This record gives sequence, structure tokens and C-alpha cells, in this order.
Amino acid sequence: MNILLTGGAGYIGSHTYVALLEAGYTPVILDNFSNSHPAVLGRLQRVTDRQVLCETGDVRDTAFVQDVLRKHSIQAVIHLAGDKAVGESVANPLKYYFNNLGGAISLMQAMQAVDCKVLVFSSSATVYGDPASVPIAEHFPRSHTNPYGHTKLVIEDMLAAQSAARPDWKVAVLRYFNPVGAHACGLIGEDPAGIPNNLMPYISRVALGQLPFLEVFGGDYPTPDGTGVRDYIHVCDLAEGHVAAVRAMLGGSSGMQVNLGTGRGYSVLEVVRAFEQASGRTVRHRIAPRRPGDVAQCYANPGLARQQLGWQARRTLEQMCADAWRWQSGNPNGYRDDA
Ligand code: WQD
Repeated sequence: MNILLTGGAGYIGSHTYVALLEAGYTPVILDNFSNSHPAVLGRLQRVTDRQVLCETGDVRDTAFVQDVLRKHSIQAVIHLAGDKAVGESVANPLKYYFNNLGGAISLMQAMQAVDCKVLVFSSSATVYGDPASVPIAEHFPRSHTNPYGHTKLVIEDMLAAQSAARPDWKVAVLRYFNPVGAHACGLIGEDPAGIPNNLMPYISRVALGQLPFLEVFGGDYPTPDGTGVRDYIHVCDLAEGHVAAVRAMLGGSSGMQVNLGTGRGYSVLEVVRAFEQASGRTVRHRIAPRRPGDVAQCYANPGLARQQLGWQARRTLEQMCADAWRWQSGNPNGYRDDA
């Protein structure tokens, strides 16, 4: 069965591509490479020993998306394409509303035109805002604290409206917690442009000596060691969660909204120590002021995904750090060294 991966050349997309192939599906990438590198395609061919099917274009081009859906007889779509930097979304909200909402609307219109009815959507734990308690369950209230999170929340609502209007549509909303790590082969991984916003790529570059030290944003949170606690999930576990969702939706399951997390929170300092263990490197760090918009704790109750998808995360924090280090140390400049 052919599965379309919008944003499939990105961090989550490339790992989901591999997981889909391993599960016997035929993934087709749709990407405009505005936030990913074409070299990923060559890497994926090396990892999978298969010619990579990729259509270059913008998910907001509805006619283009329709053509791709028809050309490849797509049975289900995994929608990953979109912008995801919280800070950038605050500075440039119109870019986020246009790209993320416009892309989702265009995709849904194209799917409707060709009668493709199965959609797995990349949402985010950010839709829970600042949770009243942890672990977070799917019925918890949603809110947003930035335009990026707002786009995820609005797209969830658009998908719910579409499913209500067209009950034959099957929609799975996957709320990611904190994806980290890389495929064990070391050929694909997270490659943010410029200075990383997220913790794990930042730590990786400090360990490699590309950045001088890590600023730990806040040491006075109401957490065991005062630093922020998050639910880090191996990107390969997350990818396998997408395969489970595609399988469930194609198998006739009703739509769902599920957390993709491990259910275990780790503090910033715990991640630093785990990374030092895994890499054998020192990660110089210092406590700095809190980052505006950060919450103290955010980790999942993963029970619903286990119950509805038969999926749960398996990989440990040590594996996440070891795989992240293998990728970073083997590719100091990410994909930019490839021709
Ligand atoms: C993790 C922890 C920081 C960097 C965001 C988005 C979320 C998703 C993942 C897209 C926090 C601390 C970080 C640093 C630090 N993005 N930190 N120094 O903020 O939990 O989630 O990225 O889907 O939607 O909200 O992830 O990795 O930025 O931060 O101390 O240089 O690490 O304060 O406690 P976050 P993060």
C-alpha cells in the first residue's frame, strides 16, 4: 500500500519513511525542502537499499497534491509538513498560520477531491499548554501559548469537523512529546539549521565542541532538581507509532487522538548526565534564567496509544543519547557535507 509522507524529508519524516518500508508499506515523500535537505534522499536510499520515491513541491499547491495522490494511488497520508519553531512562530505568526493551516487545508481539499480518506496528523503535546498536572492524558484541556501551538490546535479542530462531516474519513491525531535521537545506522538524524532551539541537538553540538556550553533554562522549577522535565521519546519509537496508526486506520479503526510519549519524564540535568555517559564527552553547562513560555513539567500518560494502537515506546534514554551522539559525531555538519 502506498502512503504519502508530506514533509517526508524532515527529521520525523525520514525516520517514518524507514519504519513504513520495514513494515511492508510503500512510502512516497512530498517535500519542498524549505526545512529539510535533499541529501536525505540519498541517505535513505543507502539505509533502505531502495530507490526513494519523492515528489518535490509545496503541500499548499492543491492541484500538485491531487496529482501526486492520483499518480501514486495513495491509500493514506501522514501529514508532517509544517513549521515547528516555537520562538519563530511568536516573531512571525503569519508565516505559521499560512504554512501550517494553509498546508493542512490544501491537503484535505486534495484528499477530498480524489477520495483519499485516511489521514495521520503530526500534532504536539504543546496543545496541552501548561498542564494542571502530570502525566498528561488526552482528555486534558487544550490551550495554546504561541502561534505554533495554536496552529496544531486549530488543525486538530479542522480534522474533527471534517470527520464529523464525512464519517468515512479515518483520522489519527498523534500528539508528540519530545522526539530525540536517530536511527541506529547513523546515516539519518536531526539536523536543525543554525543554532538549535531544542535540547538534544544543542547538547550534541556542545559535546562535539561546536558550541561552548549549554544554558540550562531555569534551575528553580518545582521539579526534583529544579530543571525542566520533559518526556523524551526515541524518534524510531515515534516513527513506529505512525506505522501503527496507519495500520489501525487502514484496518477500519475509528479515528483517535493519542499521546506519543514514554510516560517517563527526565530533567535537563538528567539528560545532560545520560548524554555524557553515552558519548564519553563532557557537556559543559550552566544554569541560566528560565526561557519564556516554558512549562515546568510535561510528560505523557501513554496508556491510550497502547490500548488503541497496540504501540508503546521501547527505547531508553541511554539509547536516545547514544544514537543522537552516533549521528552527530558521524555527521558534524549534518547533511551539508553531502554533495
Ligand atoms: C526541552 C527542555 C528547556 C534548550 C518544543 C516544542 C514542542 C516540540 C519539541 C515541535 C526544556 C530545556 C532547551 C536549551 C535548555 N516541537 N532547554 N536549554 O520546549 O519541551 O518542546 O520542542 O513539535 O512542540 O514546544 O523542547 O528541547 O526546546 O526543551 O535548558 O538550550 O530543555 O527549558 O525544559 P520543548 P526543548
